[in-house]
Amino acid sequence: MNTYHISVIPGDGIGPEVLAEGKKVLDRVAQLDGGFRFQFTDYPWGCEYYLKHGKMLADDGMDRLRDSDAVFLGAVGYPGVPDHISLWDLLLRIRKEFDQYVNLRPVKLLRGAPCPLKDVDRASIDMTFVRENSEGEYAGSGAWLNPGKPHETVIQNGVFTRVGCERVIRFAYELAAKEGKTLTNITKSNALNYSMVFWDQIFKEVGQDYPQVKTYSYLVDAASMFMVKDPGRFQVVVTSNLFGDILTDLGAAIAGGMGLAAGANLNPERKYPSMFEPIHGSAPDIAGRGLANPLATVWAASQMLDFFGHPDWGKRLIDAIEAVLVDGSVLTPDLGGTATTAQVGAAVLAKLEG
Ligand code: NAD
Ligand code: IPM
Ligand code: MN
Repeated sequence: MNTYHISVIPGDGIGPEVLAEGKKVLDRVAQLDGGFRFQFTDYPWGCEYYLKHGKMLADDGMDRLRDSDAVFLGAVGYPGVPDHISLWDLLLRIRKEFDQYVNLRPVKLLRGAPCPLKDVDRASIDMTFVRENSEGEYAGSGAWLNPGKPHETVIQNGVFTRVGCERVIRFAYELAAKEGKTLTNITKSNALNYSMVFWDQIFKEVGQDYPQVKTYSYLVDAASMFMVKDPGRFQVVVTSNLFGDILTDLGAAIAGGMGLAAGANLNPERKYPSMFEPIHGSAPDIAGRGLANPLATVWAASQMLDFFGHPDWGKRLIDAIEAVLVDGSVLTPDLGGTATTAQVGAAVLAKLEG
């Protein structure tokens, strides 16, 4: 029987609470299928580990992860450890070292999910963000000069390489072509006169190979406005690292909230493991109380099943999430309910079994 080896990093805050449910759901899928199974290896890495050991993960941590088929991650970051340390040393490190250059984030309003927009055609909120995930504004290039002096200076460089832009843009075109969808490019080339002009140029160049894909280009400020006023304009969307980060939280807001937003960090060549996670953080404001919504994590599990070549199961998980939402009797407080994280996890299992 095929065994998928999954490295689990529950991480901080609500991370362990939501991942516990994600693992149960994957186990049940494997049981129901009968043709594959999951073997989970849990790693205690995160902010608590940092406070004990002075590092976010073990010295051989990346090597241990490298041997698995995927990483399943909860959330990283907690008060007491500076965010730029915890995130750079764990989450961003994994994305970069494993060349997970595609961050695939669905923004789809399921039936039963709350939407704050007025007079919107609910079915029109159905997009897939392809976020560049390895460089750009997150390249980590810069300097902090003359700290504490009157002429203290910081420099944060955006780094956009031809290879880096081309590969993620091509991935987005391929996806749009495969799904028969439009592709929207979101940049800011009126102000960012090097990086985004270059990106737009590559968007055009790569597009010559996909004459069948209808494209649109928006500046990010206008795109944010249209996501609220007229979300039906967007189908497949491609953006740089930072814009994709921001726009997908906006996307979460119009598609049911942070408790429903998932993301896949993909190394499409499968040279390294890909990583699946809810896009929300560790939510210190609600951590440890069973209040966290695990549905984003279940959605990330669905993305993992898609990536492993089980799109039928991926879809069945989304259907199960939708069934829980439509039923409406077992929901966490962010969705207006009173159920706990574990009760919602159990409700997903019940719907899955039908
Ligand atoms: P956050 O996503 O943790 O929380 C924002 C708001 O959404 C909070 O009110 C929180 O209660 C709510 N929320 C988030 N997930 C929820 C869920 N599953 N169910 C119900 N409510 C949920 O963002 P933040 O407060 O800006 O960041 C907290 C910490 O997490 C910081 O250290 C930050 O750097 C880190 N962070 C980590 C990741 C990650 O690991 N992928 C992502 C974003 C932020
Ligand atoms: C996300 C998060 C991360 C990002 C942070 C925690 C570094 O916000 O996955 O959306 O900006 O990519
Ligand atoms: Mn984010």
